[in-house]
Amino acid sequence: MTWPYKDLIAIHDLKREEIATILDMASSFKEISKRDIKKVPTLRGKTVVLLFYEPSTRTRLSFELAAKRLSADTTALSASGSSFTKGETIMDAAYNVMAMAPDCIVVRYPYAGIPRKMAQLLPCSVINAGDGYHEHPTQALLDMFTMKERFGTLDGLRVAIVGDIMHSRVARSNVYGLRKMGARVVLVAPKTLLPPGVDTWGVDVSAELDPVIPDADVIMMLRVQKERLNRQFFSGDREYSFFYGLNRARVEKMKTDAVIMHPGPMNRGVEITCDAADSARSMILDQVENGVAIRMTLLYLSLGGSVNVD
Ligand code: CP
Repeated sequence: MTWPYKDLIAIHDLKREEIATILDMASSFKEISKRDIKKVPTLRGKTVVLLFYEPSTRTRLSFELAAKRLSADTTALSASGSSFTKGETIMDAAYNVMAMAPDCIVVRYPYAGIPRKMAQLLPCSVINAGDGYHEHPTQALLDMFTMKERFGTLDGLRVAIVGDIMHSRVARSNVYGLRKMGARVVLVAPKTLLPPGVDTWGVDVSAELDPVIPDADVIMMLRVQKERLNRQFFSGDREYSFFYGLNRARVEKMKTDAVIMHPGPMNRGVEITCDAADSARSMILDQVENGVAIRMTLLYLSLGGSVNVD
């Protein structure tokens, strides 16, 4: 079959073969960013609009660079600089953007469901750049690509995802994707930062970090998403860091070839110390580099590039 989607809303929607195809294709797109002239004409004449109604450094910049490296035109809008501040709804904004004939809208929004609603109602491609606690599919794809580059396969890999699982769209997308690709996932968090129903996710769960470390191939640390906390979920940063932070002592207990990942932004000194974040095991900047390649792949596929998915 050929790639069947105009949109990318959730890893939950993708089959194992489709994820495998995206990861395979990303290697050739990555090569473009290593050239002196980092630009190919593939999407010349296409227009990509970035609607970011939440702050972003990595996702927004890498989508913009990805589109530009494929020769698409880009323009970006953030909530603070838009008529959202005058009361205009996101869907009204989307219809107005659509009237200007974009080929693709990349959208980040603080609540779940808006990217799917746009995909259903608009004729252009829609890519979810993160919606509330729901999903961050491009992040999970770049994370899986980074792991596959390092280990050769995701099958059988032991991945620990540590921290604020409850509020993390990154955790959800990674759990869905990693399980489809045959990895074994363990979620590590205080009970207050685990979502209801996590026992149905098909993953192991641990309230303690230390026993998980020696078995993990990948330790993915998550930021505590204070902007989403509407009450006290733990007693303070120092206690959180003591029980759940990745520090030098814990890094020394990792397997010889195990790696550290973090989707960013990091809160250094809370979930991860500088020792850990800047250690030779850290793949945090590899993740950022790979974000451009994954987003080039997805823009190519969403804007008409075809590929066989067997
Ligand atoms: N990982 C991630 O989504 O980072 P940004 O919020 O900076 O885009």
